[in-house]
Amino acid sequence: MKKKPPQDFALDRPVVLIGMMGAGKSTIGLRAAGLLDVPFYDADKEIEKAADMTIPEIFETFGEAHFRDGERRVIARLLEGKPSVIATGGGAFMDPETRSLIAENALSVWLRAEETLLWSRVSRRSSRPLLQTDNPRQTLNNLIADRYPVYAEADLVVESKDVSKEAMAGALVAAVRERLGQGQKHEGKPGE
Ligand code: S3P
Repeated sequence: MKKKPPQDFALDRPVVLIGMMGAGKSTIGLRAAGLLDVPFYDADKEIEKAADMTIPEIFETFGEAHFRDGERRVIARLLEGKPSVIATGGGAFMDPETRSLIAENALSVWLRAEETLLWSRVSRRSSRPLLQTDNPRQTLNNLIADRYPVYAEADLVVESKDVSKEAMAGALVAAVRERLGQGQKHEGKPGE
């Protein structure tokens, strides 16, 4: 049976998951959306739908810059909708425009994971165009070094661990509740 969201809490803005490939944004986001009783969107899937191509095909045919343009547009559209949980691709938050859109319209949560956990997950698959290099582990480490200082601008950080998806989704929802629950208590909204 689906768990009902806690009655003392209603999501008033989208929750945007950021973090590296392999951090678990999509699997955990889907379950967290279920717990919060809001829709779940995977920005990568939405980009694929809009382009009618897979992400590797978009990279191969049009290049990364074109992919980032589509990513920016898709995330802007998702942010306009009702509260939801949105998983973004690992590079999305690195785009300054996307980052400020997220900052203005959503609660951002960085799913932070250790390199060893990320590598154990991403090395099993070949679906990430950015890791199609001679030394993908080094590439992963370079991306971590570039991105973690920027990811640190997220509103919340949740440590992604090698535990069940359900446990991770529960930890994410607890962190969101604590943050937004407190915000509502202390700040309120005009007219409330
Ligand atoms: C990318 C991560 C991918 C996808 C694309 C680029 C990145 O998404 O958006 O391959 O720049 O890190 P995931 O983080 O969901 O794997």
